[in-house]
This record gives sequence, structure tokens and C-alpha cells, in this order.
Amino acid sequence: MIQTSCRLRNFSIISVLALTVSNVFLTLRLLQVSDCGRFNNDNSVIPRAPVILTPATTCLEYILADSSVNASDRPVFSGLELKLGRWDTRRMFKIFDYGVVGEKFVELSRKLNVTLATQSSIEKIFSLVQVSHHWSGAISATVYAAGDDELYLLQLYLTYLRHCFTTIRERIAFHLVIPKERSPSHLRGIHLSELAKYNCAKPEQTLNEMLKQRSGDTKKWRIKYPYPQNLMRNIARKNCQTYFVFLTDVDIIVSANMNFAEQLDKFLRKAKCSNINNLCAYVIPTFELDERVRFPRNKTDLIRLANKGLARPFHNKVFIYNQYATNFSRWQSDVTETEVKISHAVTNFEFLYEPFFVAPDNNPAHDERFIGYGYTRNTQVYEMFVAGYQFQVLTPLFTIHWGLQNKKGRPAWREHQNNINRKHFEIFKREVFARYHKDPLKMLVPKKPRGPNAGNSNAGGVAVG
Ligand SMILES: *[C@@H]1O[C@H](CO)[C@@H](O)[C@H](O)[C@H]1NC(C)=O
Ligand SMILES: *[C@@H]1O[C@H](CO)[C@@H](O)[C@H](O)[C@H]1NC(C)=O
Ligand SMILES: *[C@@H]1O[C@H](CO)[C@@H](O)[C@H](O)[C@H]1NC(C)=O
Ligand SMILES: *[C@@H]1O[C@H](CO)[C@@H](O)[C@H](O)[C@H]1NC(C)=O
Repeated sequence: MIQTSCRLRNFSIISVLALTVSNVFLTLRLLQVSDCGRFNNDNSVIPRAPVILTPATTCLEYILADSSVNASDRPVFSGLELKLGRWDTRRMFKIFDYGVVGEKFVELSRKLNVTLATQSSIEKIFSLVQVSHHWSGAISATVYAAGDDELYLLQLYLTYLRHCFTTIRERIAFHLVIPKERSPSHLRGIHLSELAKYNCAKPEQTLNEMLKQRSGDTKKWRIKYPYPQNLMRNIARKNCQTYFVFLTDVDIIVSANMNFAEQLDKFLRKAKCSNINNLCAYVIPTFELDERVRFPRNKTDLIRLANKGLARPFHNKVFIYNQYATNFSRWQSDVTETEVKISHAVTNFEFLYEPFFVAPDNNPAHDERFIGYGYTRNTQVYEMFVAGYQFQVLTPLFTIHWGLQNKKGRPAWREHQNNINRKHFEIFKREVFARYHKDPLKMLVPKKPRGPNAGNSNAGGVAVG
């Protein structure tokens, strides 16, 4: 009896050891296959054999596929007249719609009934390499530049991107926003020969190299400057030429399983909105991914990574309400990957829910009075909810944010922006009530705040500093 239990214990210790060893081994292997998914490896040898593109490619593969890029392109924004441009409502920013138009933007806007809309400050634009390779439709992107030095670097970098990547050159229309407070005075000419020293296989590193040329003055000014997220979003949205718009932040990368844009278009063409007022928004779940692993090839692959702790719902640790209502456990229970379909409807909508979704673009605009961090995207989603939109979660498409986000101290300037926006929210929620005569979440009933993080959800991809 004693002997048996001893043997049993030995056996279980051995099993645990064996399992641990195999787990460590598997994790190591998994980490090893990571490559330049985020363009940060040092893979500088270009293999001679042509690479057959699999859905989730490495940047090196992108370059090989793009080798036919035409070098006789004109520099970006070369025809722009800085003395013109239209002002935003409060005359704080000047807007240049369609500063550069992708060669196939119009054609793609006709082919598919959905456009990807996004916005970025200069620091994160490199993400568009991966975004444009995974999204085969039209892309409407608003970019931002402050001062002569930043505008020059933006021109240089966009010219580089268009020179190196066919998908950027063909698919993306760029709209430019400049702040009145630090308005550039002139455009510098760019010669394509300036690009010779930059490596197409390293878009992120190239950007960081270029940004070193930014003046100390501009850097200092930019750190605290409230970035006009919602203005940027509205410009990207309203320059989409299709009925449906999929608004994301620039560092949200659409999955490469199936052909995202085409499959989504196919779904949207036959989707029947079951909402009584015909107000439907289709949520694409967002995950954050350990930087060391390869981009998941499909939903099954993503769930495998999630089970290993290498992927998890976006903002799960930083601010769980951000995506909680999407109901990931429910989404994960179905792994069929044959066509895009509705997984389930969002049933527990809560304030501060902030999904990325596809919808006809007649939904409420983003309130441009929210500037910088806090209450920018979730207030728009809140207004949609009050207006009666139904949110439905799609499968098996998903989006990825690189890097697992953990709670860390927030810089004081960001706390400051959030506090200003919180005050503004008090007005906003009353306006929404006045507009719809509804208060489904009882926002106007005084109650205790939920916690120190409420409203400050680090809303994805917007770089300020
Ligand atoms: C590149 O542009 C030139 C001049 O516009 C054109 O003659 C040539 O065919 C183009 N090459 C490619 C690969 O598109
Ligand atoms: C896009 O979808 C809308 C709504 O279903 C439809 O009315 C419109 O005709 C579609 N446009 C094209 C170009 O297919
Ligand atoms: C998903 O990706 C994995 C890993 O690449 C592959 O083995 C599997 O066949 C794929 N499944 C589907 C349904 O495409
Ligand atoms: C998620 O779905 C499950 C199963 O349908 C349900 O029991 C649960 O309440 C849902 N949770 C949320 C947050 O919607």
C-alpha cells in the first residue's frame, strides 16, 4: 500500500517533470520561429530563391514580393500648397485631403464595399507595411506632421515606404494634418537618391533613424502636445469612398487568415442586419501578441498562442473593460475557418467598451473636442449604443496589436489630458442624452466611479510623444 502510493508519487513527479521539459522545449521552438514579424530581427541576408507567399509573411518576404516596385516615383506631397488646405471646425489644424493617393485606391474602392480607415502620428507609420500587406482593399490614412522638420521627415519616410512597398504605393490614400501652432512654412525637395542609404527590409529601424533628425525643439513640443485623435479619425473615415468603413488605430494589424478584405466584403454584401432600426456594427476581436512570436496564421493558431499565454484579448491586463463585452471565451469556442460569419451578438454592453468594428459610415462622428488621451474612441461607441446600434462579433477574422500590455505608470501629461477629457465627458453625456432622449446605461444617475483607470484605456495606436 505504502509502496504503491510511493511509486505513484514518483510516477507523478516524473510526469510533471517530463511535461515541464516538453513545455519548455515547445515554447522555445515557438519562440524560435519568430522572425521579422515586427521587423526587428537582424535578418539581412536575402535568400536567392523566390519565396512563395504564405498568408502570414515576414517583412523579408514582403520585400521579395515587391521587387518590381517602380523607382521613378515622385516624392510624396511634392505638389502640396501649404498656404491652402481646409481648417478644422475650431481652426486649430489644417487638413489636406488626399495629399497622396494610392495608384489603385479608386479601383479598390469600387471593387470592395469596405475601406480600412486609420490614423497615425509619424512614430508609428511603419505599421502600415504589415497592415497594407494583410488588407488588400483601399486604405484611407490620416497622418500628422508638426513643423518643417517633421513634415520633411514624413515626406521622406512616406516616399521610402511607397518606393519599397507596392501595397503602400497602390492601396493607401494619405491625408495630412498640420497644427496651426506649429505650422510648417515650406516643403523641402526630396531626391530619390536620398533614399539609397535606407534598407527596405527594415521599415521600423529606418523610421527610427530618420526621426533622429527631428529637432530637439520639435521633440520637446511634441511630448506634451495633445494629439487630435478624433479629428484624425473623422478625416480618415470621411475620405473613404465605400459604404462600409473599418476604422482601426494604425498599430492594429488585421489578420492574414483568409483574404481579410475580400472575405469581409463578401460577408457585408449578403449580411442582413437584424436590428429593428437597421443599425448594425460588426466587431472584429482584437488580441495583443507577444512580440517574440510569429503572427498567427489563422484563428486556430491564435487560440494556440492564447493557450500558451503568448496572446490575449487586447488590454486584458491594462483595462479589461476595453474589450470585455466582446466575450472572447464565446468567440474562441468556434474554430471553423471556412467563411466570415457572425459569432454572436454583444449582450453585455458596458460603458468604456471600445471595440474595433465595421459599419456603414453614417454612424456618429468622433467628438473632436476630446484631444489627446482618454474618452476618444469609447465615447463614439457609447453614442452608437445609445443611438440603438447592435454590435455583432464576427469570426474567424481578428486583429492583432503587437506586444503584451502591462500596467505601468502613466506620465503626468497623459494623466492631465485624461482629466481634461473627463471633465468634457460630463458635458458630452448630457448632449448625448439631449440628442436621443435615452440613458440606457444610467450615465446621468450619480454613482461611484469604478476605479482610477476608468476612461483612460490607452486607446490603442496613438502615439503622442
Ligand atoms: C515605371 O515607370 C516608368 C515611367 O513611368 C514606366 O515606363 C515603367 O513601365 C514602369 N515600370 C513598372 C515596373 O511599373
Ligand atoms: C455597398 O453596400 C450598400 C449597402 O448594402 C449598397 O447599397 C451599395 O450598393 C453597395 N455598393 C457597391 C458598390 O456594391
Ligand atoms: C491554421 O494554421 C496552422 C498553422 O500554420 C495550420 O497547420 C492549419 O492547417 C491552419 N488551419 C486552417 C483551418 O487553415
Ligand atoms: C459570454 O458568453 C457566455 C456564454 O454564452 C455567457 O454565459 C456570458 O455571460 C457572456 N459574457 C459576457 C461578458 O458577455
